[in-house]
Amino acid sequence: MQTLTTIPDLRQACRELGRPLGFVPTMGFLHEGHLSLVRKARRECTSVVVSIFVNPTQFGPNEDLDRYPRDLPRDLGLLQAEGVDLVWTPTPAIMYPEGYQTWVTVEQIAAPLEGAMRPGHFRGVATVVTKLFNAVQPDRAYFGQKDVQQALVIRRLVADLNFPLEVIICPTVREADGLAMSSRNVYLKGQEREAATVLYRALTAAKEAYQNGERNAEQLRQRMQSVLAAEPLAQPQYVSCAKMDDLQEWQGEIEGTALLSLAVFIGQTRLIDNLVIGGEL
Ligand code: PAF
Repeated sequence: MQTLTTIPDLRQACRELGRPLGFVPTMGFLHEGHLSLVRKARRECTSVVVSIFVNPTQFGPNEDLDRYPRDLPRDLGLLQAEGVDLVWTPTPAIMYPEGYQTWVTVEQIAAPLEGAMRPGHFRGVATVVTKLFNAVQPDRAYFGQKDVQQALVIRRLVADLNFPLEVIICPTVREADGLAMSSRNVYLKGQEREAATVLYRALTAAKEAYQNGERNAEQLRQRMQSVLAAEPLAQPQYVSCAKMDDLQEWQGEIEGTALLSLAVFIGQTRLIDNLVIGGEL
């Protein structure tokens, strides 16, 4: 497994890798969710490239950039064991050198939900992913459904900017009690870890209501709200039942595929999760 830092080295190495080339962009501190993407890429592609870069431009001024967990030696060991061909670990100065001033902005699909709560977040994500794609030039790129809006934003930018690659969205990997795997779960202390299961419990309660015939979007949102309200450590930021294609809130009866999603503070830790009902992602 090669580990490279600069863009010229990375470009040269990627040119020499067999095709199709699968790419898994990450911010490191890898967990089973990331590894499931790597394994799928490994099964489906001749070569696999993983990037590890904690992208400063997708963090807001009061977010956790400085304390975002990092453990490069451990990450490299895990990726080596998965048979990854190349790991790219650029630095902030490589990605955003002095004088940097070009940004990628995806509009409508990036506006609600995470986009509304985290201004500038998707501009940072879209910009860094564009730069990563330009450098690696993959045939397929793998993202997790846990960050579903991010995956849809990236699908949109790939279509709009004519990147010749396929975006593959893979199922959320969960702990045994349902908590979606996330690098940020490491922040959960003491009783917060147990309390964090409330996100999945709220989503599954709404999904069960849907399966039992409930079609009213507001009732489904209220079902999630009432599960969250019973957890004293949970502070919901948003609870959504949105149309899958544009992420606008369903009003009245759901008639197609819907995305149930939520963002909840458990203590100081902000967690997100989602489930799709009435169709496929
Ligand atoms: O999902 C992530 O880890 C990041 O948002 C990504 C896609 C690697 C861009 O920095």
